[in-house]
Amino acid sequence: MVEISRTRIGWDDARDANRANWDSRVALHVEAYGLERFAEDPDHVSSVVRDDLPVLTAFIRGGSLEGLTLAHLQCHIGSDTVSLARAGASVTGVDFSAPALAAASALGERLGIDATWVETDVLDARAAVTAQLGPVTYDVVYTSIGTIGWLEDLDRWAAQIAGLLADGGVFYIRDGHPMLYTLHDDDEAPLVRFPYFATGEALDTYDAATYAGDGVVASPRSFEFPHALSEVAQALTGAGLALEYLGEGRTLPWRFAERMVDLGDGNFAFPGDEEAMIPCTFTMVARKPPQRELVSC
Ligand SMILES: C[S@@+](CC[C@H](N)C(=O)[O-])C[C@H]1O[C@@H](n2cnc3c(N)ncnc32)[C@H](O)[C@@H]1O
Repeated sequence: MVEISRTRIGWDDARDANRANWDSRVALHVEAYGLERFAEDPDHVSSVVRDDLPVLTAFIRGGSLEGLTLAHLQCHIGSDTVSLARAGASVTGVDFSAPALAAASALGERLGIDATWVETDVLDARAAVTAQLGPVTYDVVYTSIGTIGWLEDLDRWAAQIAGLLADGGVFYIRDGHPMLYTLHDDDEAPLVRFPYFATGEALDTYDAATYAGDGVVASPRSFEFPHALSEVAQALTGAGLALEYLGEGRTLPWRFAERMVDLGDGNFAFPGDEEAMIPCTFTMVARKPPQRELVSC
């Protein structure tokens, strides 16, 4: 049973609770994510990255990540990060969970992937990357599935992305649709219960389970924040990026509600008519404008 209520909480307290929650999911996810498939098959990539790559690479000159530098925000235990490395990128994974980064680093080493890992609140990512690696910038900044819902301030988030991107670089996000998050995952039919727009409140969530694996987490409390699609777009454009793509998806790479149908390819869909009623994901691609050369007349 997932208990969710609305509350006001300061960012530091929300972030610390979320970090404890994510730290306590790591051991379960290392067991449940099927990481051994990466070692068994040198061509294996996560289903999330498999589905993201065609959209992302359509916005990249040359149509491939080969030879590009990429920062993966909220990289968790590295399964998507190593997948992006297998697609040709030189990767830096960013996350605030030390156990998640330890698992990610172990996975990278096991697979012979030369990745860099940066431990920080993503809202401080630019300064943390600079402290560890210097003033590097990236051709691509990527974040996918389970990201901004944990963050309160999207303007600060977008400023990190703009700061990390090289001129002309591409930002990619796919995540749960804000309309999906107005629903309670325990309900048996679509019923709007939670805000679509940011309200200044967090959703105070108590959930002893996690989306992968059957175990119980030691820190079950977390705080999530609603963000309307327009808020995401305005944060990115307000940070100076140009929005190049907006998509909405009808499937999810996790079982949000019990009644969802397993499509057998890592994705789940709402049954029957609901499939066309509930947007499951959104995808945005935005670019940091290239610097124009000053031409003197
Ligand atoms: C759902 S996972 C990432 C999704 C990825 N698709 C996966 O399944 O591996 C969410 C990640 O966000 C991280 N996270 C949450 N809030 C964060 C914050 N404020 N700063 C940095 N990382 C954060 C968590 O530690 C977790 O690793």
